[in-house]
Amino acid sequence: MSEKLKYWTDDLESGNPVIDQQHRKLVKWTEYLKTADHVPPEEIQKVLDFIQGFIHTHFTDEEIFLIDIEYPGSQEHTELHSAIRNRFVAVKKQAAELMDPKQVNDLIYSVFHSYVSHIRDCDMKYNEYYKAHGAHKN
Ligand SMILES: [Fe+2]
Ligand SMILES: [Fe+2]
Repeated sequence: MSEKLKYWTDDLESGNPVIDQQHRKLVKWTEYLKTADHVPPEEIQKVLDFIQGFIHTHFTDEEIFLIDIEYPGSQEHTELHSAIRNRFVAVKKQAAELMDPKQVNDLIYSVFHSYVSHIRDCDMKYNEYYKAHGAHKN
């Protein structure tokens, strides 16, 4: 796995070290899946279980952080997380039915790619708020 994160740029830093470390991991896995030929078939469900747990932890940590900093869009942001969680459950089922490892890899990659888009398009909104209003509260 490459150490240099092509998708990561410094403007993605929130200033919350726990959240930033989780985001970096998500970006790292996305880049790994982009370059990996495929995840070995016997590893797929294990990988998906692990990702599901990680995402659950990350979303929960982030939602608590948004409440702590009194982010006005926290309810809306939590709903976006719920939609992603639901999509993940659907993808997990789909992955179990696909036979072609390359298709499975592409499917998992598409989920990761949507997380990275979520960081860039949605998490950055609370980042801006935190930098402008909330940094003194933590
Ligand atoms: Fe996030
Ligand atoms: Fe988020």
